[in-house]
Amino acid sequence: MPASSSSPLSSSLPRIVILSTGGTIAGAADARSKGGYNAAAVSAQSLIAAVPGAEEIARIDFEQVAAIGSQDITDAVWLTLARRITELAARDDVDALLVTHGTDTMEETALFLHLTLATDKPVVMVGAMRPSTALSGDGPANLRAALMVATHPESRGRGVMVVLNDTIHGARDVTKTSTTQVETFQSPNLGPLGYVTPNGAVFLRPGTPRITLPLPESAPLPRVSIVHAYAGMDDLLIKAAIDAGARGLVLAGVGDGNAARTVIAALAEAAKAGVVGVRASRCPLGPVLRNIEVSDDALGLVAAGLHNPAKARVLLQVLLANGVTTPTTVQSAFDRTD
Ligand code: SIN
Repeated sequence: MPASSSSPLSSSLPRIVILSTGGTIAGAADARSKGGYNAAAVSAQSLIAAVPGAEEIARIDFEQVAAIGSQDITDAVWLTLARRITELAARDDVDALLVTHGTDTMEETALFLHLTLATDKPVVMVGAMRPSTALSGDGPANLRAALMVATHPESRGRGVMVVLNDTIHGARDVTKTSTTQVETFQSPNLGPLGYVTPNGAVFLRPGTPRITLPLPESAPLPRVSIVHAYAGMDDLLIKAAIDAGARGLVLAGVGDGNAARTVIAALAEAAKAGVVGVRASRCPLGPVLRNIEVSDDALGLVAAGLHNPAKARVLLQVLLANGVTTPTTVQSAFDRTD
């Protein structure tokens, strides 16, 4: 769908393209007190119309890439989004990209784009916890904050950022922590990149050089299953995932990415057959480190470091799609924090 301009404005303002995908930010309901709402019912143009002063921050164009709740995002949508952002970012007349997205899987889309978009132009993802028609909907304020970040000179070269609740997060660490609260997004290990203040965006630290991976050519990406560990677990789910054709397994392990002996043994057996096994943790904080509780070197396993299970899955899918399959090379990619 071609981009459409919001209004003719001073050509000295940066030009931003907003790519919308759906989610609560575009949701409509009668009132906050009513439980349900229709995701993706409101256009990005209408959302921006509710942001006071948006036309003084940037010239804004709009494109609709999808109109879905983010629970329905697929790797096919990721590829469409990444291709379109790449095309737009290559244009001299586009300065930054904004992606509106449901919050539920925003962290996964953010990491996929962060890993595969080579552009230095800012790419900011934004959503909302309350639908556009709710009392105190957070969408307009989040959109305004995202525009401030997208147009900030220090945003270049940082890859994909997530902006909600006046907080700027990096794609690798950001995670949704609350089912309902507007402060749901946190960067539990590395901390936020910065904040949006009444005076504009403020970054707490400089950007770091980023290595990107080639965008996979087509969907579906290689199947990677997440297996959640629990007390008294056996190897049934690992075996089921392998039978279903998984080329990678992410263990959402207990503590330091651990699980019952039979589960670790099944992962090691799978690794011998070429199925890459990554140990992440069901704990929300802290890294999963190599060779502490589990002998990764001997078993051919990978430690997820700071990547939570959902992030570990995305990273492993992109690596496998690019032919990165040995535990050593996969481990090097998991050791990165950029
Ligand atoms: C979704 O992720 O699409 C629904 C929830 C939200 O956007 O907050």
